[in-house]
Amino acid sequence: MHIEWIDAVVARGLSAAGCTLAAVDALAVTCRPGLIGSLLVGVSYAKGLALATGKPLVAVDHIRAHVYSPHMERDIGYPYIALLLSGGHTLVIDVQGLDRWEVLGATVDDACGEAFDKVAKHFDIGFPGGVAIQRLAERGDPEAYRFPVPSLRNARSRFDVSYSGLKTAFRVARSGPERVADIAASFQKTAIDIVVNQAIAAARSRGRHRIVAAGGVAANRYLRHRLAAEPEFETFFPSLALCTDNAAMIAGLGYHVLHRDGPTELSFGAAARVAGFRRVS
Ligand code: KG4
Ligand code: ZN
Repeated sequence: MHIEWIDAVVARGLSAAGCTLAAVDALAVTCRPGLIGSLLVGVSYAKGLALATGKPLVAVDHIRAHVYSPHMERDIGYPYIALLLSGGHTLVIDVQGLDRWEVLGATVDDACGEAFDKVAKHFDIGFPGGVAIQRLAERGDPEAYRFPVPSLRNARSRFDVSYSGLKTAFRVARSGPERVADIAASFQKTAIDIVVNQAIAAARSRGRHRIVAAGGVAANRYLRHRLAAEPEFETFFPSLALCTDNAAMIAGLGYHVLHRDGPTELSFGAAARVAGFRRVS
């Protein structure tokens, strides 16, 4: 399916931008991490386009592009703590420069977005489920259920997070009398508090005064509200269109990678996972 659609998607992207291929100076493509099938289609297509047009091509890591995305809209000084929340990753990162990263914490089980998606699936309200849960949560009381925030005794880093306890508590709540909106609101609050608490703890321990949230879950209204209300930190979020996966952030980071390193050798491959996106120690 990706192969059938990619040509039309590129044509539509160009026309939506009021642009032609001839006017494009360089190409950028996502090479990792993600679903390997879609990555391979994109990478092969981009290499073909680069060879056919003679335009330079850069390979971009999509998690790094998420963290870069708010830089496209605002000046954000380094260093800062980044909270990267997507469907496949949950990372607390000390970011000291475009490519100077230290992963301080990660999930030991599900990613934050994945937890939202599983709960939405349970309620049968759509996939991906983050927005649907948010909508449902807005009609509920976030204090109705006291779901547990884990203290991770077996974690490798004190900034790790876990969603298994919350998932169990959610299942128990679901087996009682139905209060769907209250359950969704309480789940959303806890799922977000878990990661925000860790980002704040990491920022304090590193003496950072800025926190950047990025990735699909950074679109969440409760998360944005909760972080923005922290007086101790300056907080940054990409606009909604730049939170979930998008090509603009790939081009944005690709621009800097091209200027710094030049085009990527066309022998590069795609990777579903990136080892560096685990915690440091
Ligand atoms: O970054 P992204 O678009 O794709 C990946 O790289 O995985 O993130 C997708 C994730 C999904 O799990 C989706 O449910 C979640 O972001 N998401 C949200 C919201 N919008 C998207 N989660 C909570 N609240 C939202 N408003
Ligand atoms: Zn993503």
